[in-house]
Amino acid sequence: MKNILILGSEGFLGSVLVPYILKNNNYNVIGIDKCFFGKNNKNTKNFKFYKKDYNQLSSKFFEKFDYIIDLVNISNDPASELNQKFTYLTNFSNKVKLYKKIKNLSKLSRYIYMSSCSVYGNNKKLINEKSLPKPISLYSKLCLKYENYLKSENKIPFTIMRLGTLYGWSPRMRYDIAINKIIRDMVFLKKIEILGGTQLRFFCYNLFACKVINKLINEKSKKKNSKIFNVGNFNTNIVQLSKKILSLTKIKGVNVFHETNTIDKRSYEVSTKSSKRLIKNLNFSKFTNNSIIETFIKIKKDKFPFSDNKITLSIYKKYLKNHKV
Ligand SMILES: NC(=O)c1ccc[n+]([C@@H]2O[C@H](COP(=O)([O-])OP(=O)(O)OC[C@H]3O[C@@H](n4cnc5c(N)ncnc54)[C@H](O)[C@@H]3O)[C@@H](O)[C@H]2O)c1
Repeated sequence: MKNILILGSEGFLGSVLVPYILKNNNYNVIGIDKCFFGKNNKNTKNFKFYKKDYNQLSSKFFEKFDYIIDLVNISNDPASELNQKFTYLTNFSNKVKLYKKIKNLSKLSRYIYMSSCSVYGNNKKLINEKSLPKPISLYSKLCLKYENYLKSENKIPFTIMRLGTLYGWSPRMRYDIAINKIIRDMVFLKKIEILGGTQLRFFCYNLFACKVINKLINEKSKKKNSKIFNVGNFNTNIVQLSKKILSLTKIKGVNVFHETNTIDKRSYEVSTKSSKRLIKNLNFSKFTNNSIIETFIKIKKDKFPFSDNKITLSIYKKYLKNHKV
């Protein structure tokens, strides 16, 4: 039976990934999380959770794992600017320390690192993995820095997933990501504010990311080792996205406020070729439409859609106010 370690198991992606892996495989899954956003997965026969900073784990702890999936990052631009030292530690230097602990493990089949397509910054051409990254924010600069570190060391089999902006329901809900926020505001405030709106973005349904990760931990071939994949299911700009959400969900009476000036400098469109090769036989357009409707149905039932706990920036602000880094 394979042993899978998930670092950051209780976060937005982790809280849907753990049940997804358990449902689709018979593996032992261990979750580690410092619980900035609470504990969101239930312990079951095949899932054990330790509330811990993963930096406190010794090299010995990692020996038994076949796969390590690393979801730890301060993964929001404003939150990563709060305290640059803390972000540098979390998103880069502590990861290098982790790498040093696991680099000689013979059992490890693959280390999977969740990076971001925001490393492409502002790019007018259709992007693929060979396109030149031009990261703008500290978050995306550190994603790229760690990717480069992994590539330069290349001692353990690794795969880098550059995710599009995530969306979807999760037990650790995030409303600081575009689609979730737009749907929340349409449902509960009957309004949306579009800033700029022509910026192109690549989006990734959280369950699509789970499909890809599940594929990677079940892959026998070593072909995907030392590779980078852009992962997501569709591209659009924010104006078109709002129209798409309105037409799919049929929410009535929404006021749209459009401010054409924006400070958001990122704009990129990413080829879905790699994602289509990774997940074959999926009708991407139908999957995308269904994913938006599924997200809307879940958000509609949220009893606390404006809870501070659902905004990454608020949680890290509170943490940094009370902890010296
Ligand atoms: N959310 C997005 O739109 C998006 C887009 C592209 C890439 N990604 C990447 O996907 C991954 C997951 O993102 P997410 O949205 O689930 O983020 P998240 O913030 O919801 O989850 C990260 C988890 O890591 C935990 N954590 C932080 N420091 C820790 C430590 N030292 N030890 C143990 N646990 C620790 C946090 O408590 C949190 O539960 C990240 O690597 C992120 O960069 C996310």
